[in-house]
Amino acid sequence: MGERPDRNLALELVRVTEAAAMAAARWQGRGDKNAVDQAAVDAMRKMLATVDMDGIVVIGEGEKDEAPMLFNGEHVGNGKPPYVDVAVDPVDGTRLTARGMPGALAVLAVADRGSMYAPGSLVYMDKIAVGEAAAGTVDIEAPVEHNLRQVAKAKDKEVGDVTAIILDRPRNEPYVQAVREAGARIALIGDGDISGVISTAKQDSGIDILFGIGGSPEAVTAACAMAALRGEIQCKLWPRDESERRFALEHDLDLDQVLSTRDLVDTDNTFFAATGVTSGTLLDGVRFSGELVRTHSVVMRSGSGTVRYIDAIHRVEWLKDVGAAL
Ligand code: FBP
Repeated sequence: MGERPDRNLALELVRVTEAAAMAAARWQGRGDKNAVDQAAVDAMRKMLATVDMDGIVVIGEGEKDEAPMLFNGEHVGNGKPPYVDVAVDPVDGTRLTARGMPGALAVLAVADRGSMYAPGSLVYMDKIAVGEAAAGTVDIEAPVEHNLRQVAKAKDKEVGDVTAIILDRPRNEPYVQAVREAGARIALIGDGDISGVISTAKQDSGIDILFGIGGSPEAVTAACAMAALRGEIQCKLWPRDESERRFALEHDLDLDQVLSTRDLVDTDNTFFAATGVTSGTLLDGVRFSGELVRTHSVVMRSGSGTVRYIDAIHRVEWLKDVGAAL
């Protein structure tokens, strides 16, 4: 048996997301989504090898053949205990970065071995998320208006003052309509619903609740943060077609189950680190000035509930080995 992850791990993880963010940010606005992702993956992979952990990627870049790096099942870390599950999202918002738009993050989450939910090839989940004040009051299966009223009540405000964040996709149009009909406000985002989920739990974000269908890997990763923030995320698998339905049936994935934060990551021992690639509600993006690079990150640990913001200045010279483009 390995020892359980301790608090040092959280502070090591942020070095990995910083490296990924810096490498990705070099490609900001250059229109090349794949180059953004590749740069971040390469940097993340190199830095992960230095972390004292025996990690298995449960939430990765996809299956081995499609994603040569950081694929599901890959071992990461230097092989020493603790034994952990790892969720990587080298850039949540590759399109945002490629287009120079706000809200892209480099993200890494770690939790006890065997604790992360594996969605298999089911790409999407329906999601609802709220911060600590409204945790325990919402229900993904209840009407949107009910959930908006619950959040308003929990936060002692009117429904008209509640802001719902929604990923801007045609499949989420029914949510947009329902929120409008209830008279609440909407913040639409083009990409990046990990940041969207976390913003519901951030005091000064102006966001109260997240609705909508987004990526399954992002749901598990965001759950690691919500466990630390004492917020709540509920999800349901959302199969796109018959083959995904069949996959669920064959792999014992219950399409009717409401997945709680705890179902998504079954431990009270999660670590989460994210670094801003482009500036957004949650974090500032990477800023380059000559020999110096500045990053802004957040590090969380569910065991203690500690949330740290880290403003770091890096020397390009020292970083040369991490990302080719730096
Ligand atoms: P990537 O940048 O990793 O591609 O993900 C961005 C994202 O917007 C996620 O935040 C979200 O969960 C998912 O894509 C939604 O998927 P899709 O773009 O297929 O609707």
